[in-house]
Amino acid sequence: MNHSLPRYPVTVIIPAAGSGERLGAQVPKALVPLVGRTLVEHAVANLSPIASQIIIAAPAGFESQFSALFGESVTVVTGGTTRSESVKKALAATDSESKYVLVHDAARSLASTDLAARIIEELVAGEVAVIPGMAVIDTTKEIDADGYVIRTPDRSYLRAVQTPQGFEKGALIAAHESNFDASDDAGLMELAGHSVKIIDGEERALKITTKSDLAIAARILLPENDLDIRIGIGTDAHAFSADELRPMWLAGLHWPEVVGVDGHSDGDVAAHAICDALFAAASLGDLGSNFGTSDPEYASASGQRLLAETLHRITEASFKILNISVQIVGNKPKIGPRRSEAIAALSRSLGGALVSVSATTTDGLGFTGEGKGISAIASALITKF
Ligand code: CTP
Ligand code: MG
Repeated sequence: MNHSLPRYPVTVIIPAAGSGERLGAQVPKALVPLVGRTLVEHAVANLSPIASQIIIAAPAGFESQFSALFGESVTVVTGGTTRSESVKKALAATDSESKYVLVHDAARSLASTDLAARIIEELVAGEVAVIPGMAVIDTTKEIDADGYVIRTPDRSYLRAVQTPQGFEKGALIAAHESNFDASDDAGLMELAGHSVKIIDGEERALKITTKSDLAIAARILLPENDLDIRIGIGTDAHAFSADELRPMWLAGLHWPEVVGVDGHSDGDVAAHAICDALFAAASLGDLGSNFGTSDPEYASASGQRLLAETLHRITEASFKILNISVQIVGNKPKIGPRRSEAIAALSRSLGGALVSVSATTTDGLGFTGEGKGISAIASALITKF
């Protein structure tokens, strides 16, 4: 939908002063990159077509980094310790001629220009407060302090609200000057006695809070075939041990009927091949360069622990697993009867990733065919978010 709005004097306030604790990046959340731009740049790009003024509340100490991104086109103020304090500080910098204010979380970076335009249309038509909301999918309970349900509100009257939230400027400033406390600006307006209108929100206005939200946002932004997809392969092999008591660990499972293999850590060739494939796909080196055979911390680490640590490292580098395939090569153990268990164990160590496990013998040929040892080959498909 394309709204050809006349230019109304609209100030867009972008609270971006949070640290992004739950996202856990090295920089404040608004500066985290998503498909080639920071989150706050996405938010500004989406809302600037309807804005006559944009004010960003930046985390203290990061003001110049925000200014450098936008130059003169944006006013940067220092944010406060709470979101509403950040909004209040930004309100003090609004142009005197602006009539409407849209408050929009940097964290809802992908909310569309169209959504903002629909909010403004309602304000122009005379509403004082207009906010987007989504129908609530889950049945929602109201509880008391001890965790007991007080009541079950009728879901059809509930909305999960988003931003941008639009207001008549004078009314919003007055609501912020009152000593009310609310978790969003619309809440302050409600307490000040204004009626707040809800219009349809949009999926893409999701609040980016965790790493997996970033991955969802990347999918919204990119057509499937534009995703930055990488592939990696890995192999590992170990000889069966002469020590009859050595336990066999393979694909995250213990195999009591088979003697284990010699080698670094627990010798889980399937897990190690997957780690190598993941590191290769992410261009992060390999098992050895990451965990080192001499590093005592990993000398006796289980395959599952190495998988979990590998997942952590590739996630830190902004990669998400699309799928993993591992093939085990050897005469024993027989994988088929425990295939689902093996898939579940590997997947669990990889944060629920899609894993497939296959197995083969080599017709009596080579060290695996001669029953001297076991090997595994893995491929990993990952995507950057
Ligand atoms: N915000 C702000 N000033 C604060 C706290 C939050 O301007 N003192 C902004 C955030 O930058 C974000 C929006 O309010 O754009 C919504 O907050 P949230 O998604 O919770 O972001 P963070 O507080 O950064 O994240 P976290 O709670 O995980 O630390
Ligand atoms: Mg927060």
